[in-house]
Amino acid sequence: MPINIPEYKGLGYLNRNKAFFKNPLLFSYERQKEIGDFFYSKMLFKNIFFISNADVVKHVLQTNQKNYAKSPAYRQLKLALGNGLLSSEGAFWKKQRHLMQPTFYKKNLEELFKKMQAVGEKYCDEIESREESGFNVNKEMMRLTADMVLATLFSSENSHDNDKIYTAMNAAQEYILYRTHNPHLIPFTYINGKHARFKNDLAFFNQNIFDIINERKKLKERPADLLSMLLEAKDADTGEPMSDQQLRDELITIFAAGHETSSNALSWTFYLLLKNPLILSKLREEIDEKFDPKNISFAQIMQLSYTRQVLEESMRMFPPAWAIGRENISADEINGCTIPKKSILFVSVYSLHFNPRYWENPEEFNPDRFSKEASKNRPTLAYIPFGAGPRMCIGNHFAMMEMQLILAMLIKKFDFTFAKGNGPVEMKPLVTLKSKEDILLTIKKRAQHSFS
Ligand code: HEM
Repeated sequence: MPINIPEYKGLGYLNRNKAFFKNPLLFSYERQKEIGDFFYSKMLFKNIFFISNADVVKHVLQTNQKNYAKSPAYRQLKLALGNGLLSSEGAFWKKQRHLMQPTFYKKNLEELFKKMQAVGEKYCDEIESREESGFNVNKEMMRLTADMVLATLFSSENSHDNDKIYTAMNAAQEYILYRTHNPHLIPFTYINGKHARFKNDLAFFNQNIFDIINERKKLKERPADLLSMLLEAKDADTGEPMSDQQLRDELITIFAAGHETSSNALSWTFYLLLKNPLILSKLREEIDEKFDPKNISFAQIMQLSYTRQVLEESMRMFPPAWAIGRENISADEINGCTIPKKSILFVSVYSLHFNPRYWENPEEFNPDRFSKEASKNRPTLAYIPFGAGPRMCIGNHFAMMEMQLILAMLIKKFDFTFAKGNGPVEMKPLVTLKSKEDILLTIKKRAQHSFS
């Protein structure tokens, strides 16, 4: 049966593959502008379908999601994440999702919020003495969100241990990315020491986690954190708790999925705010009026509606998870187009978020798009920073709460300016959407506010 949507045949087969691997985000975005929001191309010995149309996204991620397994790139993640929620599939994934979903209910989030708040306050006190013009917002946000996620996972406040854990994790992630981008070089990694180093990093991480799990099991009174919550979680049918190995897989998954994404979103948000001073003033007005650093509460953070819109708009323009990949199990038909079995479906979240079909002046940073009124007329799946359907991010409320808290605390207490001019910063689409160069800011404490 013919595939009756446009095919992209440009550049010749080899150069097309090369261009895609060099920058898959730009490759798909440029083609969307040229060809449309649903097209395919023959690459990597397969048919790859590029999707940035909300109806097609809905079909793949929601309506007929059972036919769309995670794409082969996720299989590489399994090397580190094992059978955690992000990389598992089918009945096993479903059982785990049911088991873990209640952990992220509001009541628990309120408990976790207190841990985040403590980390945030400590961080603000620490940077107060650091009036500087080399505040590397990317590194700072990475560090802060990693500390927050480790505090909510294990009640861990020891930043020396935290350092070791995320250095090992970052090295492991780099290796996985290398394999994903260079599948033809994988066999060499077993000879040139790369795979052995990865195994060492993983062993270090595992040892730490198993030690923490064992210590925790011995405690009669357990702290209110994700580890305790997951230890309590029981299978609805059998009443069985998770095995230690499964706990490890879920904990490492939450760590991996849960800090780099939020960290990048925050860094880009600072970038956008400093480029748009009027929006920064409006944000500051809300924060000055509604956010009292001496009485921080979950409820207070939830009232910061413009702060939320700013973050939403920032994730439209710089979606941390900039693409979502699937592979179809059996042949399917979408809008009259045949999708042969085992094709790759590349949902370009970035292109979707700039698709002029759904967004007026998509290049403009405008948080008002996310007011209740303005959101009404848009298809829900035109905006999917957290994915969609049953595999949607389990940590979306956690992430929003964390990012709103961090932004409110920092904007309330400090003034920020660009340290090196405000030229454009290029994107670097790795596992998450980073900037090519780190963004340097000057920070200065605002006179009238203090946490003490
Ligand atoms: C701004 C921050 C975040 C963004 C943009 C984000 C984005 C996403 C996206 C797009 C997916 C779906 C992937 C797919 O369908 O293939 C996902 C899944 C997931 N995320 Fe997040 N995420 C964020 C923060 C978090 C946090 C804070 C946690 C944990 C506390 C988390 C844990 C997970 C897990 C476990 C999954 C797999 C869910 C499943 O398949 O059942 N994420 N995330």
